[in-house]
Amino acid sequence: MAHKESIHGRWSSRWVFILAAVGSAVGLGNIWKFPYLAGENGGGAFVLLYLFCIMVIGVPAMMAEIMLGRRGRQSPINTMHTLAIESGHRPMWQWLGFMGMVAGFIILSYYSVIAGWSIAYLFQSGTGKFSGQTVDGVNAIFDKFINDPEKLLLYHTVFMAMTMFVVMRGVKSGLETAVKFLVPALFILLIVLVGYAMNTSKFVEGLEFLFKPDFSKLTFSVVITAIGQAFFTLSLGMGAIMVYGSYLSKKTSIIKTTFAIAGADTLVAILAGIAIFPIVFENGLDPTGGPGLVFVTMTLAFGKMPAGDFFATLFFTLLTLAAWTSSISILEPVVTYLVENKGFKRATAALITGVFTWLLGIVTVLSFNVWKFSFSFAGDRKDYGMFDILDIIAANIMLPLGVMLIGIFAGWFMSREASRDELDLGDSRIYEVWRFLVRYVTPTAIFLVLLKLLGVLDSITKAVMNMFAF
Ligand code: PHE
Repeated sequence: MAHKESIHGRWSSRWVFILAAVGSAVGLGNIWKFPYLAGENGGGAFVLLYLFCIMVIGVPAMMAEIMLGRRGRQSPINTMHTLAIESGHRPMWQWLGFMGMVAGFIILSYYSVIAGWSIAYLFQSGTGKFSGQTVDGVNAIFDKFINDPEKLLLYHTVFMAMTMFVVMRGVKSGLETAVKFLVPALFILLIVLVGYAMNTSKFVEGLEFLFKPDFSKLTFSVVITAIGQAFFTLSLGMGAIMVYGSYLSKKTSIIKTTFAIAGADTLVAILAGIAIFPIVFENGLDPTGGPGLVFVTMTLAFGKMPAGDFFATLFFTLLTLAAWTSSISILEPVVTYLVENKGFKRATAALITGVFTWLLGIVTVLSFNVWKFSFSFAGDRKDYGMFDILDIIAANIMLPLGVMLIGIFAGWFMSREASRDELDLGDSRIYEVWRFLVRYVTPTAIFLVLLKLLGVLDSITKAVMNMFAF
């Protein structure tokens, strides 16, 4: 075995690990992205596919990632290096950790911009801006907001600063303290919102949209999106869960915690959908509203509620907090690497990484206003921007590639004894199922997706070339 403890610290208990991992998993991906992806991709069929991907690819991959992290007990790069050598292979596997770091850097750059929207909405609800607004009113507020690059930049800056602040303070006093309060609060608020949706006249229609599959809507791009979303929402493929696993005690059962994390994450996504779509239909909004969906629907609903300003402020506070507990997990792997290999102090490492991520975030800020263009993704023509390109590269290409390689390493390169020992499942049927899934199912499914995606790369290149021809 590599190291007994990580030099960066250790979670106080199994519960704290679950909270931290749930905090990482539950974020914008559940409350902001899942509803709009389900809306854009035909509802029920997408949801069903997404659930299937979580169970068959997501859960085994999460077990593998936690297992590798706990066995390596270092930053993802060094963990992969150590484990490759331990199992008699070349240290080249460290590049997997490196790719994860780059993916995390890209994801955090745009994640922070969207989380910034949430902060802005928090302040605006606090001042009563949405009360009594019409559909056109809330749409106009949203359009005006995303067309203001300076505002977007301001809130992006605030959010990056919040993220750096927690990571600088370290595992125990930063990460742990934050998740202990934020995660339970998030759950309570979501339930309140679902309660509101149940009282709208279109509750059943909302449910039908989410759960009644219309398979004619299943195109290849929907499949790719569902797989990408399954990894994104579980924080897989880039080392966030690996590094959280490295702070986990040897005594904790990986399979049980994985089910708890994946279950809580799925529950939040579904609850968010249940809270949002009845409101969409009741107000005649477009379910394919894209990234603005949550911001428009929620403000509209709150604007009509008694004490709506209060609930709206609460909602956007929690959306911000959910994003916050995720963003710290995206920054953490990079910081651990700089501390281990470059001898940086944690605070310096968090500061440097944060500043570079912030800079890349400016691309996303501009992509909603001065830098819009369109291209087609797996045959679907839409108005995409640089934001979508970054999202596709990181979430739809790099995360699946990361998960595929994690599956290949855990299933083929790591010895059977090592994984069985670490997962602590003995020679059970469950262990065999897990091993079968990570050896065969995960890599094959992802490989097929990536092959198809090469066609997509083509259209991205074209779009970028068009852009510069202007
Ligand atoms: N899982 C987070 C969400 O759903 C996003 C995330 C992706 C976090 C990758 C960490 C790593 O919002």
